[in-house]
Amino acid sequence: MKDIVAVVLAAGRGTRMKSDTPKVLHELLGRPMISYVLESLRKSGISDIVIVAGYGADLLKECESVKGAEVIVQRKLLGSGDAVATAKNFVEKRSSDILVICGDTPLIKTETIRDLLEKHKDSGSSLTLLTAEVKDPTGYGRIVRDGSGKIIKIVEEEHARLYEEIINEVNVGVYCFKSEDLFESLKKVEPDPIKKEIFLTDTVAILHKAGRLISSLSVKDSSEMIGINSRADLAKAIGILKNRVIEEVMAIGATVEDPATTTIYPGAKIGKDTIIHPNTFIGPDVAIGRCCRIGPFARLTANVSIGDEVIIGNFVELVRTVVDDRTKIKHHTYLGDTTVGKNVNIGAGTITANYDGKNKNKTIIEDDSFIGVGARLVAPVRIGQGAIVGAGCVVLRGRDVPSGSTVVGVPARVLDKKRG
Ligand code: UD1
Ligand code: CA
Repeated sequence: MKDIVAVVLAAGRGTRMKSDTPKVLHELLGRPMISYVLESLRKSGISDIVIVAGYGADLLKECESVKGAEVIVQRKLLGSGDAVATAKNFVEKRSSDILVICGDTPLIKTETIRDLLEKHKDSGSSLTLLTAEVKDPTGYGRIVRDGSGKIIKIVEEEHARLYEEIINEVNVGVYCFKSEDLFESLKKVEPDPIKKEIFLTDTVAILHKAGRLISSLSVKDSSEMIGINSRADLAKAIGILKNRVIEEVMAIGATVEDPATTTIYPGAKIGKDTIIHPNTFIGPDVAIGRCCRIGPFARLTANVSIGDEVIIGNFVELVRTVVDDRTKIKHHTYLGDTTVGKNVNIGAGTITANYDGKNKNKTIIEDDSFIGVGARLVAPVRIGQGAIVGAGCVVLRGRDVPSGSTVVGVPARVLDKKRG
């Protein structure tokens, strides 16, 4: 029997999102919401993961980050408690403890999950809850404690009495249960009189009444606890995530001049002493070396690798492109599926025609070459080392420019040096 299995609740449609896409597949900085939850679980050492899907279960199963987890289906969405009960036969005998987490809380950090597991083990509790102290508890289940501070129940917003509504300690939606106690107490939960759903949170009062030990851990960073129920929550969470990524980038020694207008997707690698100017977008799978200048208004769409001391200026878009050290691409340029060598100068307005309507084709621009303003490079094509492409040239596909040569005109032809 394993130590712990995680059950991720992700069956809800997310009615408040007003979307046809299942809520947990909505994206935050290029990745589905649920992938963040799964990543935190995996990084905290939990590999045995069961996802309870419902609305859009087939879409969820196809999701890359879900691979490796088991997906089970809750046929009728009868509440978070019913969702956990659906997982019973899969997980009950599998581990002594069960971590239940909502798929719509993507900002929970790995360390928090680790701390919760540790507290659960050390305290020997039947249930260890993750809670948060917030300024505005609206929409969250309130943690109700007795005079001695013991947790006695969780009361959902719609049932909260006035004196409970003002409680600002809320349920984050991450729970560590002793497996036996979870399923014992779940059997006793009655459907909620208003929503007619089985609330997982009602197990708390049942365990308390049975004299079981319930403990809690409060999140250090209250931005972690946000549960995404609406588009407004999603925008708030994206904002928090953006700041986290930018703080990480700054912590390793890069300057981000204007965090408010800069977007950097998680996982970007940015070297020391690189400066990111305002209004820059850095998408997935981007690595930038040291001492570069990026932007303002640069867009590194996806799969971009940049060496050291490179300058990428305003209105430059790069996608699936590698740029080597000390190259300058300073103004109004689009390079797709391109490899650029060292010490290259790409003139203003250079465009690679990388897509021919069927395939994406590659352009190679070798070291020390010079591309004049407004050049069009129709891929696949290679610009040899030290070559010069004249201003306004159209270099046709397959018409590679030899190393050291100069080409001019439309279509580009090699300039005969003897005749000047
Ligand atoms: C829930 C908690 C609340 C807590 C908040 C934290 C309950 C009853 N309330 O409220 O105490 O403060 O999360 O964000 O759990 N789900 C299913 N099947 C269902 C219903 C829900 O899998 O039949 C899943 C949803 O996909 C979601 C999670 O359970 O991931 C929570 O459901 P949701 O409707 O978002 O509950 P909240 O009202 O946010
Ligand atoms: Ca929620």
